[in-house]
Amino acid sequence: MKLWEKGKVSLDKRVERFTVGKDIFFDQSLVLYDCLGSIAHAKMLQKIGVLKAAEFKKLKKELVAIIELDKKGKFKLEQHDEDVHSKVENHLTKKLGDLGKKIHTGRSRNDQVLVDLRLYSKRQLQLIIESLLDLCTTLVKLAQKNRLVPMPGYTHMRQAMPSSIGLWVASFAESLLDDLHLLWCTYELNNQNPLGSAAGYGVALPIDRNLTTKLLGFSKLQNNVLYVQSGRGKFESLILSALLQISVDLGRFATDLILFSSPEFNFVRLPEEFCTGSSMMPQKQNPDVLELIRGKSAMMQGYFLQILNVVSGMYSGYHRDLQLTKEPLMQGLALEKECLEIFALVIGKLKVNKGPAAKACRIELFATDKAIDLARKGLPFRDAYRVIAESKFEFVADPVENIKKKRHLGATGNLALYKLLDRIAEHRKKLRKEKSLFERKMKALADL
Ligand code: ARG
Repeated sequence: MKLWEKGKVSLDKRVERFTVGKDIFFDQSLVLYDCLGSIAHAKMLQKIGVLKAAEFKKLKKELVAIIELDKKGKFKLEQHDEDVHSKVENHLTKKLGDLGKKIHTGRSRNDQVLVDLRLYSKRQLQLIIESLLDLCTTLVKLAQKNRLVPMPGYTHMRQAMPSSIGLWVASFAESLLDDLHLLWCTYELNNQNPLGSAAGYGVALPIDRNLTTKLLGFSKLQNNVLYVQSGRGKFESLILSALLQISVDLGRFATDLILFSSPEFNFVRLPEEFCTGSSMMPQKQNPDVLELIRGKSAMMQGYFLQILNVVSGMYSGYHRDLQLTKEPLMQGLALEKECLEIFALVIGKLKVNKGPAAKACRIELFATDKAIDLARKGLPFRDAYRVIAESKFEFVADPVENIKKKRHLGATGNLALYKLLDRIAEHRKKLRKEKSLFERKMKALADL
């Protein structure tokens, strides 16, 4: 029987299939967090006198047993279970009788699902931040190694000014580190305890929300019980909007790599084991991996919009439409992690073709620098510009010396990569702290 069935009419099977849909598949990843959330809730019920200490102990033992079953793949959700929350409660009732029926006192599946999703997102965000930092580290290394390798800098996809492999690669590292700020910001918003909001209107029990905040390791309590419910979808879309920035960066970098690794450019080479072939054209070595990264960046925009569209214009409070935000959230988190890992793999093995990259630098690239040289000698820049334009570019230039000569902050001769390394180290420190706090709290719940 469903948690909400009153024993008279049971749900039409076709409607059940439709309303449950793929949701139980996604709920399967929430079993752990649903049980941990239930332990925290039960402990709080004990503290306010709704459960006796012995009752809490039995419930906790059974919830820990479910976690173990789930680890072994033996707690499988099925359509008739409706969702993870119902499955867990029904299991407790089967094992513990009336005691199982007590655990839902003072809570709703509406705040339960929020607890599950926030803990789940928190963990996934930690893993994503870790992968992002690994990628940035690999990028900085590549930039450092190739800081003196010249390549043309383009504007309008025409050769513009001299650049370096180091400048190009480090630009993406710096951009990704900026994205990380957005990610931490959504991490913090997501780090608020929704438990105790019940169905969105609180409950006439002295629910101790500070206690569950502490037990579940949230950094603070999300105060207004109705806002907690309206936060569903909002937080998810915020997380995806941060992930989106990362995806866009990866997609653009992938595009550059596709171009610069093509035989016509040949500035870099993808390792052969990362390239796929053509079923018909024997000569082909294709950068499918990069094309899929770019394509997945487009998918991410779709996930983000799916969530935003579900919630915008929605009335206050819980509505079942919200269930549909689970899929794009989870898919988006998984996609980002996968892309970051694959990208780091590709970058780690990328070969820079110094010769072709330097040889591609045509003499015209140095025209602006030559004009600047004249300007430094006192000629007004506009006149220097004309002198060089009329010179038919008959001058010589040393591309490596050119890189070294641009010494101001952030330019080719002064990439200040140490700044990026400092930022990476700072983020790693913060991440280590967050991860260990989370792991400690989750473990403590099972040991309570
Ligand atoms: N599967 C549901 C969801 O993800 C769980 C909450 C159900 N709440 C309800 N009032 N029907 O939203």
